[in-house]
Amino acid sequence: MSGVYNFCAGPAMLPKPVMAKAQEELVNWQGLGVSVMELSHRSPEFIAVATQAEQDLRELLNIPDNYKVLFCHGGGRGQFSAVPMNLLPKDNSADYLVTGSWSKSAVAEAKHYGDINVIEAVEEHNGEKCVTCPTTWGLNPDAAYVHYCPNETVDGIEMFDVPETNGVPLVADMSSTILSRPIDISKFGVIYAGAQKNIGPSGLTLVIIRDDLLGNARKTTPAVLDYTITAEKESMFNTPPTYAWYLAGLVFQWLKNLGGVSAVEAKNIEKAQKLYQFIDQSDFYINTISAENRSRMNVPFWLKDESLNNAFLQQSEDADLLALKGHRSVGGMRASIYNAMPVEGVEALITFMKKFEQENK
Ligand SMILES: Cc1ncc(COP(=O)(O)O)c(C=O)c1O
Repeated sequence: MSGVYNFCAGPAMLPKPVMAKAQEELVNWQGLGVSVMELSHRSPEFIAVATQAEQDLRELLNIPDNYKVLFCHGGGRGQFSAVPMNLLPKDNSADYLVTGSWSKSAVAEAKHYGDINVIEAVEEHNGEKCVTCPTTWGLNPDAAYVHYCPNETVDGIEMFDVPETNGVPLVADMSSTILSRPIDISKFGVIYAGAQKNIGPSGLTLVIIRDDLLGNARKTTPAVLDYTITAEKESMFNTPPTYAWYLAGLVFQWLKNLGGVSAVEAKNIEKAQKLYQFIDQSDFYINTISAENRSRMNVPFWLKDESLNNAFLQQSEDADLLALKGHRSVGGMRASIYNAMPVEGVEALITFMKKFEQENK
């Protein structure tokens, strides 16, 4: 079992020490004789877990005091609706940068709520995809907000520079990049992320929102998606996903013990460099994203001879390298190498890819 590496894009692998601790505590949490998942969300014991998790996250991401952290349900897609319902007045518009399939899905949902200005922000140069120059975007200085997705999980496109919006609130879907590298929270109005990649299990969604953006939800906004109500009720308006919140807390502690987000970033750079370098020196595998926009978290790659796809997937699974199939919309392969993936997992993948190449060239 210990030699199994799971490259799933999400729900993704969780750190082994976190899983071991959760297992150890599963049926008898802190000597109470019950599981943490059986505790009332309003019990002092669970409130202590919840408060500690938020405090650790604040420390890890250096979240300023004028930001609220919300622990919600509904996943990334829930936020595709929550963002316009909370931030887009009926008589205004929002700018949406499209850099891949998730930002495109965010647009489709936001269009139900108002005028969405779609900015196609990826171009192809010599067969390589890259994010276009910000000067070509023509952002609207009067927009209610600018939305973008810094890491496109399906396409493997990551934007490392934070867009300059000159005072217009910036909203980021960080589902697949949060906690992988340091970010300056003060540059954002809202950050949201489904938990199932770098935070914990699915079922929990984090929202980090600047105080001054609260209080603007449309009257028709369901209370569970209303940021103001969620903030006022400290994420306990309805029963929060308590077990996922607890597990996220364990992940935050694991990250702190590792040395924090800068330390994990160094590991993430090492893993991504190893894999991209191997792909680049091979004429058997290809990745078509330009160097400056290559995702550190999700590495899509294609076999030049696609008739070998099934054999690759079967044999990689036999070698305990799981979930390497690319998203159905783009085909090929994808290795998701989030924080919890050890360097050894990437090395095992490269060793397998080398062997497969030699045997099938
Ligand atoms: C960047 C991004 N945004 C949104 C989503 C949708 O998340 P959910 O399935 O939690 O609604 C995903 C899912 O993988 C994602 O990667």
